[in-house]
Amino acid sequence: MRNVIPPNNKKLRGTIAIPADKSISHRAIMFASLANGKSVINNFSNGKDPLSTVSVCKKLGVDIELHDEKTVIVKSNGKFLAPTEILDCGNSGTTMRMMAGILAGQSFDSILTGDDSLQKRPMKRIIEPLALMGAKITAENYKAPLNITGAGLHGIKYSSKISSAQVKSCILLAGLFADGETIYNEPYLSRNHTELMLKYMNADITGEGTITRIKKSVLTPCTINVVGDISSAAFFMAAASIIPDSDIILQNVGLNPTRTGILDVLEKMGGNIEILDKRTESGEIVGDIRIKYSDLKACTICGDIIPRLIDELPAIAVLATQAEGTTIVKNAEDLRNKETDRIFAIVNELKKLGADIIDTPDGFIVNGKASLNGGIEVETYHDHRLAMSLYVAGLICKKEILIKDFDWVDISFPEFEELMNNLM
Ligand code: S3P
Repeated sequence: MRNVIPPNNKKLRGTIAIPADKSISHRAIMFASLANGKSVINNFSNGKDPLSTVSVCKKLGVDIELHDEKTVIVKSNGKFLAPTEILDCGNSGTTMRMMAGILAGQSFDSILTGDDSLQKRPMKRIIEPLALMGAKITAENYKAPLNITGAGLHGIKYSSKISSAQVKSCILLAGLFADGETIYNEPYLSRNHTELMLKYMNADITGEGTITRIKKSVLTPCTINVVGDISSAAFFMAAASIIPDSDIILQNVGLNPTRTGILDVLEKMGGNIEILDKRTESGEIVGDIRIKYSDLKACTICGDIIPRLIDELPAIAVLATQAEGTTIVKNAEDLRNKETDRIFAIVNELKKLGADIIDTPDGFIVNGKASLNGGIEVETYHDHRLAMSLYVAGLICKKEILIKDFDWVDISFPEFEELMNNLM
């Protein structure tokens, strides 16, 4: 439970460093575990989700030491050992879907499971293409637990109907163990951290537009400096944009173009953003972002930008309540398949706070500006991004709000509240 007290007539001011990217942290652990030798991961995320990946890789026999809070040393001979217990992915869809791709091509059997939320999420999207590669996976109603019988895989040419980096990564990782070439295509380009990191570790992988090709490869151990998570930064961008007189700097934010949809949307809405000191770190673009309060106007968000901001949509819903006009979000039906049905959840909770928002099958429509009342309790649905979006909404409510089960923020961003307080 958390009380969010609106900073009455206060503003957000100051500079904070944004903690490590969750997507990149998962990949760093998995790929370092597959490389023969010692890898060092600096600025690793301490979110519970990446720690689920650490725990799964450890159960597969990899030596992983968390040195200080943020440095991880991975020592591996490049091979996994048969696990002696069920592999628990916790709340993490990325862990389950990507590890399924790796485990499908091993010579041993394994079982992947997860928490209540993860056991309800769709896995047909990976089981079907993996089966085409020769994988043997059984799962009741295509839901976890996934029972994986190790098998020899062969490459396929696959066109996915959805733009999902988890599905793409799963198939590319299976391709790393398959005979022949695997060619993957998706409707719009989803986040490409897997492709960039595999290339950085010398895999035989190439890409052009939405098409990626991969062949069986041996990965080279390396040092990876994980950049800050733009999906975590998004909550501060949203808060500073809607709390009058705010002016903040967010340091070390990953600016991979497959993730920067939130910057494009803020620009379209009349946000006041400046990118400072753009540079490259371990194959990823990174920079600092200065963001100030501004009078926002509504916009329509649809099409190829959706995978570039899929995790930011709950925060964008909050932003839209403070934008003049009607904001429309379309083509985001996959938001219903996240840790919770995020379309239902954010619409329901923002309505309780006084927002003019309705859901549609594939998104939501928000009429702004609305003044949010507060003075009530809201639900997170055990979803970290709902918790943080509602916290931001709470900052502009007239009265304080109570957020139930707020601790779910720990899934991706345990430092969230402390960093927000640093700016107040
Ligand atoms: C992720 C991909 C996205 C995103 C998730 C992390 C990843 O999921 O929502 O938080 O690390 O690849 P989908 O691939 O299901 O869209």
